[in-house]
Amino acid sequence: MNIAVTGGAGFIGSHIVDSYIEAGHNVIIIDDMSSGVKTNINPKATFHKIGIGDKKIAQLLQDEKIEILNHHAAQISVRISVDDPKADAQVNILDTLNLYEAARAAKVRRIVFASSGGAIYGEQDYFPADEKHSKRPLSPYGVTKLANEKYLGYYKTVHGIENVIFRYTNVYGPRQNPHGEAGVIAIFALKMLKGEQPIINGEGTQTRDYVYVGDVARANVLALTEAARGIYNVSTGAEYSVNTLFQLLQMKVGKPIKRVHAPAKAGEQKRSVCTSSKMKNLLQWQPEVSFEEGLGRTVDWFKANTK
Ligand SMILES: NC(=O)c1ccc[n+]([C@@H]2O[C@H](COP(=O)([O-])OP(=O)(O)OC[C@H]3O[C@@H](n4cnc5c(N)ncnc54)[C@H](O)[C@@H]3O)[C@@H](O)[C@H]2O)c1
Repeated sequence: MNIAVTGGAGFIGSHIVDSYIEAGHNVIIIDDMSSGVKTNINPKATFHKIGIGDKKIAQLLQDEKIEILNHHAAQISVRISVDDPKADAQVNILDTLNLYEAARAAKVRRIVFASSGGAIYGEQDYFPADEKHSKRPLSPYGVTKLANEKYLGYYKTVHGIENVIFRYTNVYGPRQNPHGEAGVIAIFALKMLKGEQPIINGEGTQTRDYVYVGDVARANVLALTEAARGIYNVSTGAEYSVNTLFQLLQMKVGKPIKRVHAPAKAGEQKRSVCTSSKMKNLLQWQPEVSFEEGLGRTVDWFKANTK
């Protein structure tokens, strides 16, 4: 199949590109390199340095005869979305609509979209959340993810473009950017390896559901199958507190590191965990990489790739 992956030079997108290439597909990457990394780019993919808001995208999708648009490019910082909701919406709504309109013009058959379980459910009523859980986003970033789900519903109903929407929990693994404000595992792993002090926000009892990036890439391969339609949580259903994560990471890094806490960040979610039983029942997907194994692979990668 001819597939375009936006954000294919980023963390999750680059693993998806690798899996698609490995499965024998023809892949183009659309990435403006705002946070993408050159070494993430699979040399067997065709790389286009272009923003998703660029008017030339429609022609590009048409020329490349794109059948599947896998959309992972985004403004990913919750903090930026809170500080500047307009800048967030510029990329995650307006530029994204430029991309969807381009897909419509180019007669793309299916759009796969990276949504967010943690960001759209908000503080949960029950644990783990399934896809029917109420949606009460706590940030403009979460609002844009939910809006994208609705836009894709519109493109399906009115224009017949199929969609597969993955609500990821916290994705982690090799190539995650350790310099942003998101991605606690990458941030802590790098600091621990460099002998710097990681800081835990609040008491460290807040929990998250961490899903390994290789498992996420495998879900995106299943998104190409006929059976895949609509919205799915992509998650593990297991919760780990930041304190437990700290302890497990420290064991993988192999040196004792003291725990230092800072005041809690205002508005930070307390618990977030989602069930992926729909993925299991309908697409036979379940996470294969255990948390300990995934943490080990992540630390090994940072060891090998940090100068
Ligand atoms: N990492 C997570 O835990 C997580 C959880 C839920 C959802 N997501 C979503 O998954 C997607 C990928 O996230 P990631 O963690 O890999 O982030 P990332 O920053 O590593 O990747 C995003 C990529 O998109 C590119 N990009 C950004 N704006 C662009 C634009 N306007 N035009 C073209 N390219 C642009 C960046 O250069 C980067 O390569 C995002 O949509 C994010 O919201 C991530």
